[in-house]
Amino acid sequence: MMTMLDGLPFYMPYLLLAAVSFGGMLLIFLWRTSRVAIVKKFQIKILNTQGFYETLFVDGGQSLLSALVFKGFALPSGCGGGGTCCQCIIKVPYHDTSPNQQERTTLTTSEINQGHRLACQIEVASDVNIEIQSQNASIQLVQARVLSNEFISPLIKELVISLPVDANFSFAAGQFVNIKIPPFNQAMNRLIIPEKFSTQWQSYRLDHYRVANIEEIERSFSMACSPKTDNKLMFNIGLALPKNGFGPGHGSSYLFSLKAGDALEFSGPLGEFVSDENSQREMIFVGAGTGLAPLKSHIDHINSSQSQRKMSLWFGTRSQEDIFHRAHFDSLMRRNRHFRWTVALSKPDTQWQGASGYIQRTLFDSYLNQHPRLKDCEFFLCGPSAMINDIKRRLQRQGVADEQIKCDDFLL
Ligand code: FES
Repeated sequence: MMTMLDGLPFYMPYLLLAAVSFGGMLLIFLWRTSRVAIVKKFQIKILNTQGFYETLFVDGGQSLLSALVFKGFALPSGCGGGGTCCQCIIKVPYHDTSPNQQERTTLTTSEINQGHRLACQIEVASDVNIEIQSQNASIQLVQARVLSNEFISPLIKELVISLPVDANFSFAAGQFVNIKIPPFNQAMNRLIIPEKFSTQWQSYRLDHYRVANIEEIERSFSMACSPKTDNKLMFNIGLALPKNGFGPGHGSSYLFSLKAGDALEFSGPLGEFVSDENSQREMIFVGAGTGLAPLKSHIDHINSSQSQRKMSLWFGTRSQEDIFHRAHFDSLMRRNRHFRWTVALSKPDTQWQGASGYIQRTLFDSYLNQHPRLKDCEFFLCGPSAMINDIKRRLQRQGVADEQIKCDDFLL
C-alpha cells in the first residue's frame, strides 16, 4: 500500500517533525513574551486632606512610591526607596500584602496597627486605596537655580538658590527639603579650593578621590535662612568625609560642585523641628557643625518678627576656622539685646580665648546649672546623636520634660 510519504526522501519525516517542533516552540515563545509585554494597569484611589478621592491608573510591577511620584504626587524619599527614612509613609486601610521586614523595622507597632505603610516597599500588583498624610500632601517639587555656592569654612559651603517666581514655596523655620542628586562622575581635584583651606583638604587627601553616583538619589538639607526669604533659600552643605574605606559623600560632593546658574530640583518642606509661634518661652539653641543651619533659620525668623523672646545659641565645632556665620551672629548680638551666642572649640589653637571642650559642658557649667526656671525654656538641639543624647539626659536629670526638647539629629 502507498502512503503520502512514499517517494519522499528518507529524511523528510524527520524534517517535518523538526519543523512542527520549532513552530510549537516559536508559538510558546511569542505567547510568553506577549504576556510580558502587556503591562497590567491598576487603580490607586487617594483620599486627600480635603476628604475627596482622586483616582490614578498606573502600571503594575513598580513600587507604589514610583507610581505616585510619576503621577505628580511628590512624596519625599530621603533614603531613595531603601525603607529607612520613613518619609514616604502613607495610610493603607486595606492591602493584600502585610508589611515586609523593612517596614516592620522602620515603622512603630502603633503605626502598623493604624494601617501605615511605606510606599517604597509596596509593589503595585492590585487596586489599592490610600491616604496621604497632611504633611506629605503639602510637599512640592520645585525646580530652582543656583545663585551662589561659596566656601564659608574648610568643609562647608553656603549654597544659595533662587526659586521660580510662581513656585509659591513656603516653609516653617527649622524645616528641611530633599535635594535630588542626579547620576554624576567627578574627580574631587576639579573643585576649586580657596588657598586658606587647602591644608585641611590635603590632610584628608580629598583631591585623590573620584566620586561616581550611578542613579538618582535624594539628600536632606535644612534651610539656613528665615522663612521670609524673598524667593531665595540658603543651605549650609558640609562635605561628608571619607570613612570606613568609602570616599566623600555623593550628595555633598555633587552639591559642592554646583555653580551659579546650575539647575537643582528638590521636594519639601519636611520636618517637625519647628517652634510654637505663640509661645513666649526662652529659646535655647544648641548645635554642632552644619546643625547650625536650622537653628539659624529659627533665630533669624524670631529676630525678623521683632519678638522680645530671649534666645541663646550654643555652638560647638573643632577650630576657629570651622566657625561659620560668625559675623552674622556677632552682629545680631550687638543689635538684639535678647540674643547671645557662645562658641566652644574641641580643638582650639593657642590664640583662642573662648570656651573649649564639648559645647554641652560649656552650656551646663556656664548657664543651665544656675538657670532659675528651666521649666520655662524650650530647647532646640541639632547635631550628632551623641551630643543630642548627652544633652537630653542631662536636661531630664534636671527635671526638663521631653515636650520642652526638640531634636534634629544626624548620624556621624
Ligand atoms: S523612601 Fe525612605 S522609607 Fe520609603
